[in-house]
Amino acid sequence: MKQGDAVLDRFYSEIVSERVDVHVAMDELIDGLRLLRNGMGVEEWDVFSRATVIHHPCFPIVHQDPFTRRNFEKPRGYDGDAKTLDYIYGVYPASEGPRSKLGIEIFNYTTNSPASKGVRARKRIITDAIDAIAKEVGEPRIFSLACGHLREAHDSRAIQEGRIGELVAMDFDKKSLALVADLFSGLKVKTFHGSVKDIIAASKSKKLGKFHLIYASGLYDYLSQRVAARLTSMLFDMLLPGGKIMLSNFLPNIRDLGYMETFMDWRLIYRNESQINDCIAEIGPDRIFARHSYVEENNNIIFLEVTSH
Ligand SMILES: C[S@@+](CC[C@H](N)C(=O)[O-])C[C@H]1O[C@@H](n2cnc3c(N)ncnc32)[C@H](O)[C@@H]1O
Repeated sequence: MKQGDAVLDRFYSEIVSERVDVHVAMDELIDGLRLLRNGMGVEEWDVFSRATVIHHPCFPIVHQDPFTRRNFEKPRGYDGDAKTLDYIYGVYPASEGPRSKLGIEIFNYTTNSPASKGVRARKRIITDAIDAIAKEVGEPRIFSLACGHLREAHDSRAIQEGRIGELVAMDFDKKSLALVADLFSGLKVKTFHGSVKDIIAASKSKKLGKFHLIYASGLYDYLSQRVAARLTSMLFDMLLPGGKIMLSNFLPNIRDLGYMETFMDWRLIYRNESQINDCIAEIGPDRIFARHSYVEENNNIIFLEVTSH
């Protein structure tokens, strides 16, 4: 634990004394926390990341960053709500932005960390996939599971130009869905309230129909392997012939790992290539036409695309 205190003490003294640029102090903090996480046993890390950090004087300093603070406080009761993601996407009212000079500097750092850049890259990759399917297939049906605020719909030319058949946007958070309905009314976007459990129970799948493209972005990071495999198989059943599912997941041991788990209390389920490929374990191999996995340019998020016959 002494090593943990040393990382926090050093950051605190650098910030308070203004001896070091905030960016450099944050670099040291983030690298130090990841090293600690990798060096500690599970129990020791649990105590450090849940109990020690919040009592250190550096904690309120770092929480001047509203992005970090919001995920820690979880006002909607769960990690990674759509408003938290909106900080990364640069969409938030000025009244909810950072107020202090230090808060601005930490916010600029955290919303430009490799994980945040990875999230923006993920949105761009999904936007491209929507636009590509709209070129391949006239008026495609698209399903976004755990859609959040569906920010990719702002960027997709196919959606903005009305070249999709329909995009069904599903989430378990009614507040997020209400904003989606408001933002994209008249753009063939239909909201649907529901959860992963509903898909797995197949209680709502019939109503949803079949799709050319199904994607889940920022969801698998919260699903156990058992649930992920079940869900993937159910989603695959919702594809039209030749349709594609697109999954994504944060990779293990990303640089922001220790910081996210301590200051943001954001604990993801990380997957490497073989683990994300295990998500298709319940789909008969003869039903799969093609599969392809790749990592976005920040090396933080892995994608898996699976196409049906
Ligand atoms: C990290 S955000 C991602 C939002 C959006 N897809 C994006 O990439 O910006 C995770 C979203 O998943 C939703 N979510 C989490 N667990 C869910 C579940 N079990 N069923 C449905 N939605 C869920 C949350 O409400 C939230 O909007």
